[in-house]
Amino acid sequence: MTAMKSPLLHPLIEIRDLTHRFPDGTPGLSHVNLTFHEGSFVVIAGANGSGKTTLLKHLNALLLPTHGTVRVDGEDTRKNPLFIRQKVGLVFQNPDQQIVGETVYDDTAFGPENLMLDRRRVRERVRTALRAVSLSEKAEQPPHLLSGGEKRRLAIAGILAMKPRVLALDEPFSSLDYPGIREVLRQVLALHRLGATVIVTTHDVEKIIAHAERLVVMQKGTVAADGPPDQIASGLERFGVRVPCAFRWGRRAESWLD
Ligand SMILES: Nc1ncnc2c1ncn2[C@@H]1O[C@H](COP(=O)(O)OP(=O)(O)O)[C@@H](O)[C@H]1O
Ligand SMILES: [Mg+2]
Repeated sequence: MTAMKSPLLHPLIEIRDLTHRFPDGTPGLSHVNLTFHEGSFVVIAGANGSGKTTLLKHLNALLLPTHGTVRVDGEDTRKNPLFIRQKVGLVFQNPDQQIVGETVYDDTAFGPENLMLDRRRVRERVRTALRAVSLSEKAEQPPHLLSGGEKRRLAIAGILAMKPRVLALDEPFSSLDYPGIREVLRQVLALHRLGATVIVTTHDVEKIIAHAERLVVMQKGTVAADGPPDQIASGLERFGVRVPCAFRWGRRAESWLD
């Protein structure tokens, strides 16, 4: 086996024996072990309630382990949550939960302003982030006038403006129409090409599977399968996840962007 280039081998996120129990006693995750390397593109699939959102929230210290550890760039999420939140940007499933500004520009500026950057640096970051998601022309619009796909891209811009090393997206295609899905997919892939480490959860792998290097399947709070999509996607049915059409016919998955 040939050695991979070092950036790809850097274990940016290391999850060891992660167990999470919610205050009411519900088990969210149990004994999860995963390593995500810098620059990778990982899809986390699983039926509703399998633990995808709970797992993502551990990556940026929104939830902390009941047992086990999560390390981001070597730092334990328990010890330094603020450091962790700058490294891992989490885009929530419902973009309305993330929208806070009166205009697209203000909304995107909210994160960097909280990092206490000066006005000029905030402006630079907002401009770069809005350009990255192709929303520069809408900078002065109120967010509620945006389409579903645009709102999701705005939520991504707000996270990008914080310059995280990892972009974690929870069900980024939910409640989007076909053009919206393509818009978001195109932007996410472009960010990955620029070097971001991307982790995406979905209960419907069809839309993104053609682009993933690795598929992690969650079931009842545990990792049920983990590997290259073409090796495990055909067996997804038993984990409550719809098998992408192409895999049923033994073909390669096609991109939704073709
Ligand atoms: N705040 C909470 N309190 C109690 N149980 C929760 C809470 N959030 C999620 N759960 C439970 O944890 C499990 C995993 O949920 P979740 O991570 O949201 O799954 P997914 O994102 O895969 O749909 C489910 O059984 C869910 O009901
Ligand atoms: Mg979820």
